[in-house]
This record gives sequence, structure tokens and C-alpha cells, in this order.
Amino acid sequence: TDRYAVLGNPIGHSKSPAIHQAFAAATGQAVSYEAILAPIDGFESCLRQFIANGGKGANVTVPFKEQAFALCDELSEEAKLAGAVNTLSVLKGGRLRGDNTDGIGLVADLQRHLGKLHGKKVLLVGAGGAARGSILPLLNSGIDSIVIHNRTHEKAIALAKLFAPFGDIQAKGLDELEQPFDLVINSTSSSLSGEAPALPSSVVGTHTACYDMMYAKQLTAFNLWARKQGAKQVIDGLGMLVGQAAISFALWRGVEPDVIPVLASLREQLS
Ligand code: ATR
Repeated sequence: TDRYAVLGNPIGHSKSPAIHQAFAAATGQAVSYEAILAPIDGFESCLRQFIANGGKGANVTVPFKEQAFALCDELSEEAKLAGAVNTLSVLKGGRLRGDNTDGIGLVADLQRHLGKLHGKKVLLVGAGGAARGSILPLLNSGIDSIVIHNRTHEKAIALAKLFAPFGDIQAKGLDELEQPFDLVINSTSSSLSGEAPALPSSVVGTHTACYDMMYAKQLTAFNLWARKQGAKQVIDGLGMLVGQAAISFALWRGVEPDVIPVLASLREQLS
């Protein structure tokens, strides 16, 4: 049995062990997967200890994704641009490889709900780590363009500049957001405090799909707002969570698990 884990702080509510154990059972892989609470100031030694004890790979969550990035000997293109790693793999000889599967998991979930993303005009709200990790996979998915908007405009400008070589992305302030988009993605953490980010209702039209990277049993604050504006479809981020896990599992094990049954059982268990 090969050992895997998720490292974070806090980690108690992580769904990753249940997700990966379900993937292992469904694919017949001999894998164990545990949650490890890493001390806030002791991520690296915690990780090294896990590897010394036979750990083959790990997921990394808040607040360690940037530290994980800094420890890698080898990085995927997505991880390089995200500046953050959520998937570590121990290579032959002990070298550490870092991937970032968050954005790829998002795109996979969007495609599952919406079909081809080709030609879509996307509004990405927020400019923190979650936004940054999703931009390259979005630009590579066939979408037409991204407008990025953030409460703190300078951060949106910085991300637009960073990703400009990879596709059509521009930063816009609130007063420059007018016509409806095909897809509005909320990457902000505002739903955590029960608020939707401030946006003009004109960004949502009757053909607009809205996606909140957060998830909950009830509609998130952003998706509630989106529905009130008459969005065609509102989607929450549970599928992104399962999607990023499936891609991590495939990187480690070489088999891609089916996300649908796992997603259905997680949805049922949400409280
Ligand atoms: P994450 O890694 O989840 O992206 P982060 O890097 O701390 O977390 O970024 C949080 C994002 O949510 C930022 O874009 C933040 O906006 P600011 O840059 O202006 O702080 C955004 N955010 C958090 N609460 C918000 C709120 N109530 N309204 C709008 N944006 C909010």
C-alpha cells in the first residue's frame, strides 16, 4: 500500500481523505490517504517526515501552497504560473515534483456542466491565490477572453499583466463592467462571510452561467445573487474540489477515477 496525505492547517474538515479513499476503492489501487495537521511554522519538516516514513505524494492546502511551490525541484507549467502547488509527487531519487491541479479541476467541472468552453467571454472575480491558479487552464481551454475584476484593482492589474503572454486577459474596474458575460466565476472568499462581491447586475444576462468556487449545502451568497439577476445556470465549487483530486490521483497512479459517483455522495453528505 502506497501512502498519500493532505497537509494543511486547519485540516480537520478536509474532504480529501474521503475522496481519495473512494477513488482508490473504485480503481482498485492499493493506496492509503490521511489528513495531516502541519504546524503553521513547521510545514517543511512535517512534509520531510511524511516522505521519510514512506509518503509517495501529498496534497497541500491552505496556507502552505506557496511554501510547497518553493520546495519543489521540478514544477508543471500551471504550478509555475500559479506560484502555488497543491500536488506533490516524490520522484525516483527523492526529487520533489509540484503540480497545481486546482485550475485544471475547475475547467474539467465547467466542461462537465457547460460543454465546450470555446469562444466564451469570462468574467473572473477576485485576484487572490484561487484566481491566479485558474487563469492558465482557463486561457488554454478555448475560451475567448478573460476580464478580471477585483475589489483591490491593483491586484487584478498585476495578474492581467502576468498572464497577458498566454491569452486575452484584461483587468477592469467596477465602472468598466457593463455588458453580460457568458460565464462569471467567483474566486473570492466573500461567500465565507455570507456576502457576494460587489458587481453590477448588468454582467449577468439570461444566457450567463455563474460559478462559485465555494460550495455549501445551500446556495452560496454569490450564487444566490446570480440567481436573482436571472442567470441561466448557477454552479458551486464542489465539482472543482473533486476534479482537482481526480487529477492529482491520476498524476500519482496513472489512472483517472470517475468523479461522478464521488461527487454525488459528497453532495448528499453536505450539511
Ligand atoms: P484565495 O487563495 O482563496 O484566493 P486570497 O489570496 O486571500 O484567498 O484572496 C482572497 C480574494 O477574495 C481577494 O481577491 C479578495 O479581494 P481583495 O484583494 O480586495 O482583498 C477577495 N475578497 C475577499 N472578501 C471579499 C469581499 N467581501 N468582497 C469582494 N472581494 C472579496
